[in-house]
Amino acid sequence: MKQTATPESSLSADVPEYETIERRVLVIGAGAAGARAAIELVEQGIDPDDLLVIGKRGHGDAHTTWARGGINGALGTLDPEDDWTVHAADTLNEGHHINDPGKVETVTKRMPGLLRELDEWGMSFSRTPDGDIDQRYFGAQSFRRTAFAGDYTGEAILNTLVSQAQDRSIPYRENVFISRLITDGDRVLGAVGTDLDTGEFVVFDAEVVILAAGGYTSLYRRHSSRDDENTGDGPALAYQAGATLMDMEFVQFHPTGMVGDRYGELWDGRLVTEAVRGEGGQLFNAEGERFMERYSPDQMELDARDVVARAIAKEIAEGRGTEHGGVFLDISHRDRSFIEARLPRMYERFAELGVDMAEEPVEVAPTAHYGMGGVHVDDNGETAIAGLYAIGETMAGVHGANRLGGNSLAETVAYGQVVGEAVADRLQAQVDRPDDGTLSQRAELHLRDLVTLANSDGENDPEALLKMVRSLLWEQTGILRDEAGFEAGLRRIDTIRTQAADLAVGDEQSRSYEFALNLGFALIVADSILRSARERPESRGAHFRTDYPETEAEWQRNILFQRGSIGSPNLSTATPEAPSEAVQKALDAGYELDYHQLE
Ligand code: FUM
Repeated sequence: MKQTATPESSLSADVPEYETIERRVLVIGAGAAGARAAIELVEQGIDPDDLLVIGKRGHGDAHTTWARGGINGALGTLDPEDDWTVHAADTLNEGHHINDPGKVETVTKRMPGLLRELDEWGMSFSRTPDGDIDQRYFGAQSFRRTAFAGDYTGEAILNTLVSQAQDRSIPYRENVFISRLITDGDRVLGAVGTDLDTGEFVVFDAEVVILAAGGYTSLYRRHSSRDDENTGDGPALAYQAGATLMDMEFVQFHPTGMVGDRYGELWDGRLVTEAVRGEGGQLFNAEGERFMERYSPDQMELDARDVVARAIAKEIAEGRGTEHGGVFLDISHRDRSFIEARLPRMYERFAELGVDMAEEPVEVAPTAHYGMGGVHVDDNGETAIAGLYAIGETMAGVHGANRLGGNSLAETVAYGQVVGEAVADRLQAQVDRPDDGTLSQRAELHLRDLVTLANSDGENDPEALLKMVRSLLWEQTGILRDEAGFEAGLRRIDTIRTQAADLAVGDEQSRSYEFALNLGFALIVADSILRSARERPESRGAHFRTDYPETEAEWQRNILFQRGSIGSPNLSTATPEAPSEAVQKALDAGYELDYHQLE
């Protein structure tokens, strides 16, 4: 339906034409989490025509496709001692006990069943010789628990979910950039977006909005995602709408990203999956030393990601790195056929770059990979704004101060299912809400801003400012951090914010328009990372402060970040609950990975 201004706002000539789409549920984000939530809604009896899944790019091409090495679930295929309580204990230990134990239990309990479901839905899991779902070692996990499809697990999961969604006739819309959620202060009413293909504006009228829009690590100069995904849209949209963010200071640096000086800028920071180390890959410095023996003699290359990333960063900083600024990752002691079968995409990618992984090592260095922080939600994935939910990398709580590899894909399908169930219950109980014009009034205010933005003919290039944000986050909230860096980072943010008030932007179909929208989100998210990091005077998991190198028991707390009434943010803290008896028992048993079984 095409509309121009409603009577309430018709005094303004500036309100552009827009289309209004009414759906009971709008899912923002077309990756695994969004797809799984939509599937569950239909499974629970919701009419697919009441739903719409929105993607920022083509259907089936979400960030999930870049998740590689596997998905965790205590199936016990190879290690029958494993069960969900040990998985939960490993997750809490890795998260340094500021995860939400209830959410951890939800994920770990559901995962064995959800892996079997994916299998029944046709997911191309790698198999043992007996035909069972195979499981591999992954960092800091007590047992082989990571199910996989070669080294393209995310792609295989997304293909499976997209095909299930198509079978259920779930409608998708591609290439729409959502720039604002609309609320009445207490409830979500919908969202405003721009169709990037046509430049047309769309107002979505929805009783429920599920944010499944990914994380924020592309806001770092070196990151494992594509540049235009994981740009912080989910947390920023929620924050603007009045929801609370949590744990934003915890950013995971994956130890092994490709090295741009060796393989070309295009590949800088892109993931060399942990599966390479899970299958026996070893790290060496330029002096030929297997340096993890010094940092972690028991868990070696499969210690927690923060430990391995800091070790690599130290080797490089102290001059024992390669001439290209990395270290060597070597799996050439394994047979070629083994590498081709277990790590096919890595093998092919490096072969195309002229490197034979079966004969020689590859060069790697840490890269920003995953934001443990995100939107604070309750056990059902709902924020404090009624009807607004967040799942997948957009939500916080499961991973705490650091994430186990393989738990991100697990969270997408587990919380996709949880939220699908909760929203279906809500829709079945809910009576239609009256339309009092609030949605269109508030949407039109934002549409005017969008038109102003697209017509801006100022001095500053949004892409260049976005690059400045990426540099400052990498420099001031990277693997090693301190107070002086946070202060410098906040001053740099202030300067960029001033420059962002005078942008040169093209029309709604231009890249600069998208960059300008990204920049707005980036400034919110960068500010939340810097302020939350400054607020935590200790080191814990991925947050390592050189000026406070110890972990402090009194800081076993989460930092919450919320919009204040006079514009500046409010920070507060909350204490996580205790784990259940069953999980405490697994914690007390002291399970841990025995690396030397791999040798
Ligand atoms: O290295 C990897 O394959 C990444 C997996 C993950 O972050 O879960």
